[in-house]
Amino acid sequence: MSKSYKIAVIGGDGTGPEVVAEGLKVLSAVSNKFQIKFDYTNFDFGGERYKRTGETLPESAVSELKKFDAIYLGAIGHPDVKPGILEKGILLALRFALDQYINLRPVKLFPNVWTPVKDKGPEEIDFVVVRENTEGLYVGTGGYLKKGTPDEVATQVSINTRKGVERCLRYAFEYTRKRNKRKQLTLVGKTNVLTYAFDLWERAFHEVGQKDFPDIKREYAHVDATCMWFVKNPEWFDVVVTDNLFGDIITDLGAMIQGGMGIAAGGNINPEGVSMFEPIGGSAPKYTGKNVINPLAAIGAAQMMLETLGESKAANAIEQAIIKTVQKMPSQAAGKMGMSTTEVGDAVAGCI
Ligand code: IPM
Ligand code: MN
Repeated sequence: MSKSYKIAVIGGDGTGPEVVAEGLKVLSAVSNKFQIKFDYTNFDFGGERYKRTGETLPESAVSELKKFDAIYLGAIGHPDVKPGILEKGILLALRFALDQYINLRPVKLFPNVWTPVKDKGPEEIDFVVVRENTEGLYVGTGGYLKKGTPDEVATQVSINTRKGVERCLRYAFEYTRKRNKRKQLTLVGKTNVLTYAFDLWERAFHEVGQKDFPDIKREYAHVDATCMWFVKNPEWFDVVVTDNLFGDIITDLGAMIQGGMGIAAGGNINPEGVSMFEPIGGSAPKYTGKNVINPLAAIGAAQMMLETLGESKAANAIEQAIIKTVQKMPSQAAGKMGMSTTEVGDAVAGCI
């Protein structure tokens, strides 16, 4: 009996729809080969819709999206819309409302992909960042006092709940165990300065680890040092767990060492609910409509979506197809791939 999944598709802004189209092309190849059915529904959320209607998300969006098995997202961010409106009103709103408390971001260098890190290759660059995705500085707590005056004050408060931190840590420990590579989980924080927030993280980390995951080795690194080590000794990492903002920052660095934004995929995961998969780069307005953007990140996001749905064989087939395709690409950067966006999609689909 063939399995069937209901997928919500949000192409979004800029190059989002172009890369999502290539992901869907690859999913169609997977569908034929593995007898998996996908039933897609498109949603027009993004900058164009906002400009037309003044609305970021309709009221029904969250309850609608909850009916799907997964969400496949392109990119959110429009050059004509003030920064923050779409990001907060759509992307973060969905992450929060769907309680996607994990942002899973693998940093994996495939053979033959160029990395700016000298003398490091696929052996050394292969780890996963588990970013907390619903708390920290992202919740928007804070405000202004005396705005616009010389005495103006602005505050932005990082919220770290024991429950929120602990569920993220538990996911990271479980993931490390399942990954079964070095069985090492590194907490990334700033315990030397953020002595409340990361004290909570650190206590929870050791309590949970000691009690329920004695088989997992616990390491700690400050976030600034982590940036150094991602470049100097990426092989030190197996699984990394950290808060929302640090996770945001270090995964851009992670994306660069794995070959760039063109190939970096991520998943916003609610292990008990509906998850959303996206390339981690932005909407790249200047490349929009030119057929030059790299769709591999979006295709990798589709792979992660299948993995999360429990379709490991199909997910693995996509990874193998990506690995074959990058062999033929001189670069992962937009416009320098030696192929167009659609040709990369064709190449991956052809390898399935
Ligand atoms: C990301 C992005 C978002 C974030 C922005 C667009 C709000 O940078 O997914 O990493 O900061 O989480
Ligand atoms: Mn980011």
